Amino acid sequence: MTPKITGFFDDATNTISYVVQDPEGRACAIVDSVLDFDYSSGRTDTKSADAIIAFVRENDLDVQWLLETHVHADHLSAAPYLQDALGGKIGIGDRIQVVQDTFGKVFNEGTEFQRDGSQFDQLFVEGDSFHIGQLRADVLHTPGHTPACLTYVVGDAAFVGDTLFMPDFGTARCDFPGGSSEQLYDSVQKILALPDETRIFVGHDYKAPGREEYAWETTVGEQKAKNVHVGAGASKDDFVEMRDARDATLAMPKLIIPSLQVNMRAGQMPPADKDGKVFLKVPVNEL
Ligand SMILES: [Fe+2]
Repeated sequence: MTPKITGFFDDATNTISYVVQDPEGRACAIVDSVLDFDYSSGRTDTKSADAIIAFVRENDLDVQWLLETHVHADHLSAAPYLQDALGGKIGIGDRIQVVQDTFGKVFNEGTEFQRDGSQFDQLFVEGDSFHIGQLRADVLHTPGHTPACLTYVVGDAAFVGDTLFMPDFGTARCDFPGGSSEQLYDSVQKILALPDETRIFVGHDYKAPGREEYAWETTVGEQKAKNVHVGAGASKDDFVEMRDARDATLAMPKLIIPSLQVNMRAGQMPPADKDGKVFLKVPVNEL
């Protein structure tokens, strides 16, 4: 089956959120939503999420799932905000528990921060399948960028999160805690084993040098032939060497500190203090 897919590009974080529709009904899923956050003022905004809500309402869609490909380090998830407005279950990979354990330590969270993934409605593992109306979705565990990364294969489309980017840009970084370039290579092979005509929807786009427009849709065949990091049969050894060398030069994403604290809680802010105020922490010399 061929889902109808609409991408929403967030300029501030180069993220693409997707609405994935059953072509024969009202059912849909929302993949990797964004809650706008201005770090310098500490203010959130719902402009990006409200655009998705408006689209869902205009098209009279029934949101069944709010899917996260992983715990994002560069934007906050709007999943709880969308859930309040539209319904749907929030899903992520079950290895989220590893991510919660790692960042629970980084942010020195107390025991009230559960490391069992219970903040999410559904924890997926490799081989799981579920439905969006009549559409069947299959779950691939594709770690490397983070330990919990998933690819959702919905009909003829694959939502690969931060594994592969557009062919001219390559692949995602693997240097966050728990990341592994070796694992990412193996995960990419899993995605490239899908049929060549499978449509691939990427989690970010930054325009490769020489490209004028943002883009987020490609195919397995195109990735195999042209991906600058893993295409044309690039070897694992060469990939790992290139990826690790490149990652050593990259700065941390601007919003990594707020993003991790919120996204490891399924998009919720940390609990308010006794005066009802909400704070995020900045760990010094930890990341
Ligand atoms: Fe990411």
